[in-house]
Amino acid sequence: MGKNIKNLRIKNKIFLAPMEEVNDIAFRILCKKAGCGLVYTGMISPLSKNKLHLEDKPALQLFCTNTNGIKDFIKKYNKKVSLWDLNLGCPAKNARKHGFGGYLRDLNKIEEILRVMRENTKKPVTLKIRKSKISFEILKIAEKYCDAICIHPRTQEQGYSGEPDIEFAEEIKSKTFLPVIYSGNVNDKNYKSLLEKFDYVMIGREAIGRPEIFSKITNTPFKKSFKDYLKLAKKYSLYFRQIKLQAMHFTKGMENSTKLRLEIFKIKNLEDLEKLKY
Ligand SMILES: Cc1cc2nc3c(=O)[nH]c(=O)nc-3n(C[C@H](O)[C@H](O)[C@H](O)COP(=O)(O)O)c2cc1C
Repeated sequence: MGKNIKNLRIKNKIFLAPMEEVNDIAFRILCKKAGCGLVYTGMISPLSKNKLHLEDKPALQLFCTNTNGIKDFIKKYNKKVSLWDLNLGCPAKNARKHGFGGYLRDLNKIEEILRVMRENTKKPVTLKIRKSKISFEILKIAEKYCDAICIHPRTQEQGYSGEPDIEFAEEIKSKTFLPVIYSGNVNDKNYKSLLEKFDYVMIGREAIGRPEIFSKITNTPFKKSFKDYLKLAKKYSLYFRQIKLQAMHFTKGMENSTKLRLEIFKIKNLEDLEKLKY
């Protein structure tokens, strides 16, 4: 396995899956340092006016219900991203309410969005889908405009629980010439066998609070330390709320994690968080 994603230059086939509220720039940089081949942002609206930190050149994932704002957004950030991805899999209530992510099912609209993305960038364009009745129809559209497709073979209804349907993902792979990125329960034990079936894999929840998972897989020297995250978070002026969330995540797997979490939970400012030793 190992088809190129257009002209994208990456050092390996292990990616960090897009995760909203997890993949801030400080965390992404640590994952890269630990050996991750490509990091994704969480989903971002092309109508968003928030300040974006893209200094690490991530894969940027868009979510939208129509083409509004896409052209200008791509123009503004094109130089700063590795590729443009479209989210067609978000199962959240909010997505249902507005009709984006996995609730964007109008094939004409999907085609229109991908066409506008394609027309406005020479960077790779990709999309991320779930298992659904229209997966194969979407695949045909993707083949017209995209350079790779990512499949998370759980249904919208499953959300993040239950087993991902790897056979379904293999069927997608067998029916397309596009490189296929696999997502769903990937970890440091099963990634090798998955890479025999798919071109790339992405790690989601197993990487939360554990950037070192990429070093384990790629044999990159890396020592996890929350202090390193803090340094980067300060450099990029991330919100305290976000830093505190990561502080919680980073306790994962530590011996005294319950005690640490209780301490972190009570902390109300950056200075006190910096005093914590872990
Ligand atoms: C906290 C969290 C946030 C997520 N945010 C996004 C997102 O913004 N865009 C997206 O395509 N998928 C998102 N996902 C889904 C993941 O990218 C991934 O496909 C899914 O979690 C399955 O992989 P895993 O079993 O390795 O976690 C999110 C998942 C989690 C747990």
